[in-house]
Amino acid sequence: MKRFKQHAIWGHRGTFILAATGSAVGLGNIWKFPYVTGENGGGAFVLMYLVCVAIIGIPIMIAEILVGRRARANPITSVQTVSRDSGLLRGWNVIGWMGVIAAFLILSYYTVIAGWTLEYFTLALDNRFAGLDGEASGNIFDELLANRSQLVQWQTAFISMTALILMFGVNKGLEAAVRVMMPVLFLLLLLLLAYAIYAGDFAAGLRFLFSFHPEDLSVRGALIALGHAFFTLSLGMAAIMAYGAYMPSTSAIGKTAVTVALLDTTVALVAGLAIFPLVFATPDITPSEGPGLMFVTLPIAFGAMPWGNVFGSAFFALVILAAWSSTISLLEPAVAYLTERFRFHRISASLLIALGAWLLGLGTVFSFNVWVDKKILWDLNFFGLIDFLTTNVMLPLGGLLTAIYVGWRVKRELIEHELKLDSTRFIRIWYWLLRYISPLAVLAVLLGGLYPVLKNFFGES
Ligand code: PFF
Repeated sequence: MKRFKQHAIWGHRGTFILAATGSAVGLGNIWKFPYVTGENGGGAFVLMYLVCVAIIGIPIMIAEILVGRRARANPITSVQTVSRDSGLLRGWNVIGWMGVIAAFLILSYYTVIAGWTLEYFTLALDNRFAGLDGEASGNIFDELLANRSQLVQWQTAFISMTALILMFGVNKGLEAAVRVMMPVLFLLLLLLLAYAIYAGDFAAGLRFLFSFHPEDLSVRGALIALGHAFFTLSLGMAAIMAYGAYMPSTSAIGKTAVTVALLDTTVALVAGLAIFPLVFATPDITPSEGPGLMFVTLPIAFGAMPWGNVFGSAFFALVILAAWSSTISLLEPAVAYLTERFRFHRISASLLIALGAWLLGLGTVFSFNVWVDKKILWDLNFFGLIDFLTTNVMLPLGGLLTAIYVGWRVKRELIEHELKLDSTRFIRIWYWLLRYISPLAVLAVLLGGLYPVLKNFFGES
């Protein structure tokens, strides 16, 4: 097999942290984390999530970065190279392939949902949230979901924004973009936090997120927390591996991974602290709204607050930036593969993959209207199936295989060489967690995620 060298390296030492944090911080932090926390008992869930990030998320993130940086190539070629250098069977290469395919599948639906935030940004700018009640807000959301052409229009806009950045390449596109996007994102988040302290019921928000009731600790909650830790850290999907390929050799991988995980978690918590006080300060709405929290509940809250249109627009601008810096990391692995392996130009590679994801994404668009009841497998429609396949199957499976691969199969000298800038004690703990704890924990998530299916399959017969 030919080996194509990846020449691009981030021009600044801090770029990996910004880019990986950009990938990690996304709809998962701002849309999903707050409502999943709301549904799973607040503080107890936050605690389980933090433990999962520390003992499973960070070790697997280090493993992914290490493989990418060692080979300095797209995830598929990286895994092939590391396997070859460790004298392993070609079967392990499935890790790279699965990651790139999972990223592509996620990109297809992620851009559809991210498109909704573009619509909500324009609604906020237009001051359309003013005086909304629950019913009116629910109607706006339902009408959007029913309007295929509008959904396609926003999906097209989002995927085009994503491809546009990657067309300019790693340094002039990706790197330049995250160096602007991420500081703006942090500033917007702080602004919204200040607004929540000023206009919302901050004490109630704090209590909700951090009050700890031990009886809320549960196996189910732990599995959800671990699954979420995976998704939010962008693990098991080649994205972090792809970014690791551009990381300078002078950066310590362990320390960097800890920083990214801390930043990601901080953003999720601060997003919660910016959202819940507004929800609690608005009469007649509750925090346990599930997925509708961001698109139905929050507009009501903004509509009832002073300067709600300004801060509502700022909020949706924040979500757009967060999602955008994630979608570029979902597109990059496949684009890097086409450019390195088949010598595609970045522009044609970006356009081709974006077009593929757009076409597949139409299935997700239709899943919210004409195909809503069209069951493809069990009771899952098209979007339900892709979401299930990626989140419940490919992502934990990718994580499990990565932990076993780097923990048990990859040559030790090779690992030690990549981690030589981290302290030996840190590496020893990392290696132990990766070998013994991560695979078991991820296996539990995998089986937990498949349980409803297995039950369906075997249970009734
Ligand atoms: N981490 C992103 C989020 O929390 O929204 C989602 C994501 C991005 C997952 C990139 C996977 C990935 F490769």
